[in-house]
Amino acid sequence: MDSLSVVILAAGKGKRMYSALPKVLHPIGGQPMLARVIATARQLQPAKIVVVYGHGGEQVREQIADPDIEWALQEQQLGTGHALKMALPQLPEVGRSLVLYGDVPLTTVETLQRLLAAADGGMSLLTDVLADASGYGRIVRDDAGRIVAIVEDKDCDAAQKAIREINTGMLVLPNDKLAGWLHALRNGNAQGEYYLTDVIALAVADGVAVPGVAVTSSWEAAGVNNKLQLAELERQLQLNQARALLTAGVTLADPARIDIRGRLEHGQDVSIDVGCVFEGQVSLGDNVQIGAYCVLNNVSVASGTRIAAYSHLEQAVVGADCRIGPYARLRPGAALADQVHIGNFVEVKNSKVGLGSKVNHLSYIGDADIGSKVNVGAGSVTCNYDGVNKYRTVIRDHVFVGSGSMLVAPVVLETGATIGAGSVISKNAPAEQLTVARARQLTVAGWQRPKKSS
Ligand code: UD1
Ligand code: CA
Repeated sequence: MDSLSVVILAAGKGKRMYSALPKVLHPIGGQPMLARVIATARQLQPAKIVVVYGHGGEQVREQIADPDIEWALQEQQLGTGHALKMALPQLPEVGRSLVLYGDVPLTTVETLQRLLAAADGGMSLLTDVLADASGYGRIVRDDAGRIVAIVEDKDCDAAQKAIREINTGMLVLPNDKLAGWLHALRNGNAQGEYYLTDVIALAVADGVAVPGVAVTSSWEAAGVNNKLQLAELERQLQLNQARALLTAGVTLADPARIDIRGRLEHGQDVSIDVGCVFEGQVSLGDNVQIGAYCVLNNVSVASGTRIAAYSHLEQAVVGADCRIGPYARLRPGAALADQVHIGNFVEVKNSKVGLGSKVNHLSYIGDADIGSKVNVGAGSVTCNYDGVNKYRTVIRDHVFVGSGSMLVAPVVLETGATIGAGSVISKNAPAEQLTVARARQLTVAGWQRPKKSS
């Protein structure tokens, strides 16, 4: 098999995005469009991937920061043919090249494999048929149905305008012919550009057949020129991902109301209510239930755990059979063992919570090591920060912390200790005893409420 190179054209300016961010860096599914195209290309296992980037596109190179990518600079955007020519010195003299666009993010690997398989004689073209083909290059076929040329929209005569079969822009080319064809391109057309599409007629003149391969769905070939198109493709991507989850047995309350910006792994009988967002790498074990409007960013959740509505979890590890939320917040470094309960308006950061422990209401647990079967009462706080340094709070097994306690770190609550409600604990609390640190209750005899003078 001859070697495959992939060339991704990504030098276009993207003026209609009205953004300081280069077009191909705008995210789709939480990832720059260009990174997604590169990931798709990589699945074809090409010998190399060359990205043609534009003048001032250093930001693109820095953001993509991929050591396996080769870069070719196209200083002036003189057309798609000129863009490919910029990559020519980096392409081997033999083998084939697949041209992709950095702003067409949803093409599937399966379709590209079909395109490559069709390029038997060295060439093939990815096509689509649209109800409204305006703006696209039209595919011209001869009486025998063979592709003979592509005519750009702005260069079409009336008969060509009526053609509904369009060029997606993606094609496979034989490297040994490519240099000759690219040098033969001229820019005497409506846009004064060097059109890559003109190589079709040159190939046909050279006796090279150009079989067409149709996309499976039009979104595979849809490009992004503005925020509206970006939003539409984002919804398409999310719907595709939701369908894949449903097909794999995940229960989704509504496939139109889930956003996965990364990878979501799951076990069996997982159910997800509406409005949830999954970012980065998220894994959900068997029987996990996620309530409405939760956000999970780089989180792993073991089997049987239920996360109730409006909870936000970031870089956290959650054990099996836990109850989280509603309105819980797990911040980076939160590590919960099995059967832990974290209730409403509880924040946990950089802390371990042991087997079966409960922090159910309105508490802050930061930089703490909590053992098993601990109960932290409502409104308790680990005071971990003195304005300069952070200290740890250690709470050993079977401790009971009464409501409204302030635990001033560094401090240790020994096994089985009980802390009276409202205590400010700044010294270690001994095991199995009641420690109370609050002012004694006082009743003032004969005191009277002030009365209004009016
Ligand atoms: C191109 C095709 C057209 C096809 C359409 C599909 C040509 C001449 N026309 O038209 O037949 O129907 O795509 O969307 O190829 N780019 C560069 N450097 C340049 C010009 C473009 O890198 O000098 C890149 C762009 O960033 C983009 C891609 O090439 O990723 C396509 O460019 P664009 O201007 O969108 O091409 P169209 O005119 O839409
Ligand atoms: Ca375009």
